[in-house]
Amino acid sequence: MASSNRLSAAGIRARKGQRFPVITVYDRPFARFAENAGIDVLLVGDSLGLFVLGLPPEHSPELTDMCRHTAAVSRATRRAHVIADIPSTYVTTDVDQAVRVALALMNSGAHSVKVEGRGSATAAPIRAIAAAGIPVVAHLRHRSAEVSLNAEAALLEEAGAYAVVLSGIETEAASDVTRAVSIPTIGIGSGLHCDGQVAILHSVLGLDARRYQVMEPFIDLEHLATSALERYAQAVRNGAFPALP
Ligand code: KIV
Repeated sequence: MASSNRLSAAGIRARKGQRFPVITVYDRPFARFAENAGIDVLLVGDSLGLFVLGLPPEHSPELTDMCRHTAAVSRATRRAHVIADIPSTYVTTDVDQAVRVALALMNSGAHSVKVEGRGSATAAPIRAIAAAGIPVVAHLRHRSAEVSLNAEAALLEEAGAYAVVLSGIETEAASDVTRAVSIPTIGIGSGLHCDGQVAILHSVLGLDARRYQVMEPFIDLEHLATSALERYAQAVRNGAFPALP
């Protein structure tokens, strides 16, 4: 649970109308780097499966994986708010299961949870999780044929979400949703007009150049790390490492 120095869900909720960065992290070193860089909202996304565990894109990580990585991120940070994803495989019609999974993530060190899944279909689990006293973020990915995006976002806010991630939503539509709800929107691939922006760590740092690189990275860390490892290997082979005392 959140200690007093931690940014709370209410603190994030109060950022409506401000621009704020959010980044995915999955382990201790990068959680520390992000917090030291002043990013105080960290998401242990279920992208863990793809980027860290090497699972195929259609496979969600297991709850035990999410709990283990959430715990690592939480232990590594002091002020940042850690949001943990409930993978979509655990978001079914069984809302009690969603609450149990949310509790497991909170007990592992999360300060709130995000419900993956399909828009308004997640209203029931969000309502149940919020009613259990667990701060919860919604995630909207698509425009449903029957329900407008604004109506879906309003439903998720009414169900108890304190923020909503908008992913892959056209800029104008995301801007409309941002004006329509009183909770912060956090965009990914949804244009400039969301309140916050979330990005995948591997995309920002150029950590997985071959896969799913959807943006221009801020650094080519894959190249820098590979070259440092080559120099290390070379130093071992030619006797330069370890150095003589
Ligand atoms: O799993 C994840 O990393 C996410 C982001 C795409 C927002 O949900």
